[in-house]
Order: sequence, then structure tokens, then C-alpha cells
Amino acid sequence: MGRLEGKVSLVTGAGSGIGRAIAILFAQEGSNVIANDRRGDAVEETAAMIRQKGGMVSVQEGDVSVSKDVDAIVDAAIRNHGRVDVLVNVAGGSLGVNEPAATTTEAQFDAVIANNVKSTFLMSKAVIPHMIRSGGGAVINMGSIFGLSGVPSMAAYCAAKAAVVNLSRQMAADYGARHIRVNCLCPGPIRTPALEKLLTGRFDRMAAATLVGRMGQPEDVAHAALYLASDEASFVTGTALVIDGGYDARLFK
Ligand SMILES: NC(=O)c1ccc[n+]([C@@H]2O[C@H](COP(=O)([O-])OP(=O)(O)OC[C@H]3O[C@@H](n4cnc5c(N)ncnc54)[C@H](O)[C@@H]3O)[C@@H](O)[C@H]2O)c1
Repeated sequence: MGRLEGKVSLVTGAGSGIGRAIAILFAQEGSNVIANDRRGDAVEETAAMIRQKGGMVSVQEGDVSVSKDVDAIVDAAIRNHGRVDVLVNVAGGSLGVNEPAATTTEAQFDAVIANNVKSTFLMSKAVIPHMIRSGGGAVINMGSIFGLSGVPSMAAYCAAKAAVVNLSRQMAADYGARHIRVNCLCPGPIRTPALEKLLTGRFDRMAAATLVGRMGQPEDVAHAALYLASDEASFVTGTALVIDGGYDARLFK
């Protein structure tokens, strides 16, 4: 028996990096996976990888920061499966906005907040009523260690991820009595296509700044998501779980 046998999981941002690793691991553990990404070709690639290993998956392309797309994704999920047991809000990112507050444009700030916070809000708003109807569920949001500390020149992204961390606690408070657990993952440096673009090869310094001497892999985050999605975490809600090899635990790097 897999650890998610019989569950229906909706994973956003499943076309790359952390979201792809979560979709693949959840399917391996017996979940029926609905994989979303705004890049249709990328998420179809993820689905092909899952099917090749005998997993159950369907694809819902769409931008989860846009309510019309969110409604279409969730309507299709409910039409096809009747319920969603696990929602993993992975879609997000800094959109390349690398500025202090004074030089971040209003449009940049709005875009980063929409991509990370509004997307998490809209998906949760659309899925939670169905979880209440079916008796409960688990929501897992994607924060970051950038939402726990100040990082130079990342004003919009730090603000957005801090909002995701506390929105997770807030939703846990509202829906605990309805048997819905809401938790947040706060990854550190994880070697994904997004970070490769950002760091352009400066991996050694980043790896050395962790306490375990290596970069994280998407699978490190996927295993934490698996725990939070599974019934093994039935007493865990409102938490922000840091997965960073100890990067954020040491003050002087
Ligand atoms: N890589 C890291 O070190 C790291 C660390 C902390 C947090 N995170 C967070 O983890 C998540 C995944 O990051 P990653 O490094 O795997 O990035 P990635 O770019 O490799 O993958 C992100 C995927 O999400 C999709 N996506 C982005 N915005 C979307 C939207 N609005 N609607 C639908 N799909 C959307 C992209 O098309 C892409 O396929 C992000 O929320 C990111 O902020 C990453």
C-alpha cells in the first residue's frame, strides 16, 4: 500500500522542479494526481513520466493567479474525481524581480504577490469548500526561507513568501474544526531550473552555506510534502516546515 493510496491530489506548478517531484512522488505513493502548470508542454512531460511508471495522472493547464483559470481547474477536478483530498500550492517564484523596496516598481510588486500569494489564496478558496463537503483534507503551501528572513534585493518575493507562511497558519485556524490541515513548506536552496537561472552556476558557495554541505534536491521537498499530505501528519497543522539543510539555522554564513 502506498502512503497516499485512494487519495486525489491537485499539484500546481507541476511542470518543473519541486512541483514535478511532488507530482511524481505522490503518484508513486498511490495518489491519483491532477497536475497543473501554466506551461502545458511542461506539465504534459511530467504526466508522461508518471504514466511511464504506471501512475494515475491527469493534466489541467492554467495560470493559478487568474480566477477564471482556477475555477476551470477545480471544476474539472471535481467533475472527474468528485473530490480533492490534497491540494499542494507549489506554483510561484520571484519572476526575476531582484530589487530593494525603493526600486521595485508597483507592477513588479503586484505581479510577484499575484504569482505567490493570490495564487495560493484563489486555489485554496476554490478547493476548501469541496474538502469541507467530503469531510476534510490537507492543504500544503509553498513558502520559502525568504519568507522567514530578510534577503537583500528581494523585497517583493520576501514579502510574498512571508504572506504565504502566515496565510497558511490563518487557514489552519479557520478550518481545523472541519478536518482540514493547512501547512507550509519553507525550502532553502533547492537545485531546480528556477534556481539554476538565478544562481548561474554559483552552487558551491550556496552548498557550503548549508550545514550539510550540499544543495537540496526537489525530492527533498517532495518527501516533506508527502509526510504532510499523509495521515501520518494527522496532528500537524499550522506549521512552517523548513527544508534547507540548516541554511537558515546559522547566523553567519
Ligand atoms: N528552488 C528553490 O530553491 C526554492 C526555494 C524556496 C521556495 N521555492 C518555491 O517553490 C516553488 C517551485 O519552485 P521551483 O524552484 O521548482 O521553480 P520552477 O520554475 O522550476 O517550477 C515552477 C513551475 O511553476 C509554474 N508556475 C509558476 N507560476 C505559475 C502560475 N501562476 N500558474 C501555474 N503555474 C505556474 C512554472 O511554469 C514552473 O513550471 C515556487 O513557489 C518557489 O517560489 C523554491
